Amino acid sequence: MAKMKRVLEGLIDPRRRNRYEAARRVLIRIPLERVRALQFEWLMVKFPKYAYGMQKAAALASALDLPGFTAIEFGVAGGYGVIAMEKHAARLSSDLGLAIDVVGFDLAEGLPAATGYKDLT
Ligand SMILES: C[S@@+](CC[C@H](N)C(=O)[O-])C[C@H]1O[C@@H](n2cnc3c(N)ncnc32)[C@H](O)[C@@H]1O
Repeated sequence: MAKMKRVLEGLIDPRRRNRYEAARRVLIRIPLERVRALQFEWLMVKFPKYAYGMQKAAALASALDLPGFTAIEFGVAGGYGVIAMEKHAARLSSDLGLAIDVVGFDLAEGLPAATGYKDLT
C-alpha cells in the first residue's frame, strides 16, 4: 500500500496537474477503503471545496482538542452539497473521533435579483 501511495502521489504532484484527472478516474474504480481515504485526502470527491474546508476545520478542532464542530451551508438548493458534506463529515468523524453536525439553510426562493456590480460574478 505504501508503494501504491508513493506512485499515486507522483501522479498528483502539482507539477503534473494534467495527470490529476487520469489518477482520479483510476482511483474511483478501486473499491478499497484505503483508496477511498486517499481520494478524500486528495479532494477527489464531490464538492471538493466543501471537503477542503471541512478537512481544515477538523484539523483545527483536533489541534484545539475540541469535541467537534458544525458545518453549515447557506443556500442548499437541491441539497447535493449538503449530502456531500454529510459524507465528508462521516469520514472525518470516524477518522478523527470528532462530532460533526451538518446543517443547511435555504429560503427556497432562488437567488435574489442582483442589486449591484458585486452581485455579478
Ligand atoms: C446557487 S444555489 C446554491 C447551490 C448549492 N450551494 C450547491 O452548491 O449545490 C443558491 C441557493 O441559495 C438560496 N438563497 C438565496 N438567498 C438566501 C438567503 N438569504 N437565505 C437562505 N438561502 C438563500 C436560494 O434559494 C438557492 O437555493
